[in-house]
Amino acid sequence: MKKDYLLNEWHCVYLASELKEEPQQVFALGERVVIYRTKTEVHAFKDLCIHRGAALSLGKVKNGLLVCPYHAWEYNTAGECEKIPALPCGKAIPSKAKATVYRCIEHIGFIWVNIGEDPAPLVAFPEYDQDEYRTVAIGPYDVKANAPRIVENFLDIAHLMFVHEGMLGDADHAEIPVFDINFTDGRYITSEILLYQPNPDGRSSEGYSNYVYEILSPMTARFKKKAQDSNNEFSFFITVVQEKEEQTKVFMLHSRNFELDQPDEPYTRFTDILLKQDIEIIESQKPELLPLDLQEEMHLKSDAISIAYRRWLKKLGVETGII
Ligand code: FES
Ligand code: CO
Repeated sequence: MKKDYLLNEWHCVYLASELKEEPQQVFALGERVVIYRTKTEVHAFKDLCIHRGAALSLGKVKNGLLVCPYHAWEYNTAGECEKIPALPCGKAIPSKAKATVYRCIEHIGFIWVNIGEDPAPLVAFPEYDQDEYRTVAIGPYDVKANAPRIVENFLDIAHLMFVHEGMLGDADHAEIPVFDINFTDGRYITSEILLYQPNPDGRSSEGYSNYVYEILSPMTARFKKKAQDSNNEFSFFITVVQEKEEQTKVFMLHSRNFELDQPDEPYTRFTDILLKQDIEIIESQKPELLPLDLQEEMHLKSDAISIAYRRWLKKLGVETGII
């Protein structure tokens, strides 16, 4: 894959609440990365010791230094080697003894890494910091597919009534109203799309919801739906890291402005069911690389979000596989 464009994207690789001092191995665009936490920050290096290529993620953090598991070279958070136990006393550490450091940040409940030179902006999920919403991280889910197929599935309206029948749709209400999609402030956003749902949020409260979808980055999207007969808002955010070819991890956020003091478990269970239904379809799709030429596959007006997404990827020069 020509991964030039995606190289500068931030990749969501871990749940922030689960990253402790112990180093963890993650993958982004085929790159092996180690992440770990020190007292005040999170860090990412190429998961490779320059001495003999061992995975630093098998090592440990000692006094804020990442210690290689093989010969115990110790790297500081700038990637510089501060100690080589085998060196005779007084011998200077070679300046080449360095780990490759990547940008790493904790943001909206996740750990994000950037393996490029010129980082794209981080995607936003404003509800995360707003008191009137409760936001929960969900996943990750492992999917044997390439990221654009997964993002497109999330943006696909016409499957709700069939893949998620009885939950997000109903076969007798399969018609999709006309809607607009526009590019503004660096992302695509639709007008409101009114859809009937037997069980819009896992509480079996049948009714109509107004959906607004947004494509935030090549690998990130969200929607917010507002119940037609109440002030209830329910959102899903999805971001996908392409770990290797046809191997991805899907991270999600769910936010709601109701039942703020209630357990999240019914909502996470609801999402687990939805994702299981989606993953079965996504892993069956051929070709594995999302076709960006609109002459391939067939498109209807109701596929307007997918069409915008494919056109955008093509314009950005994002290939749809990896490496
Ligand atoms: Fe890392 Fe030797 S391979 S210290
Ligand atoms: Co779905």
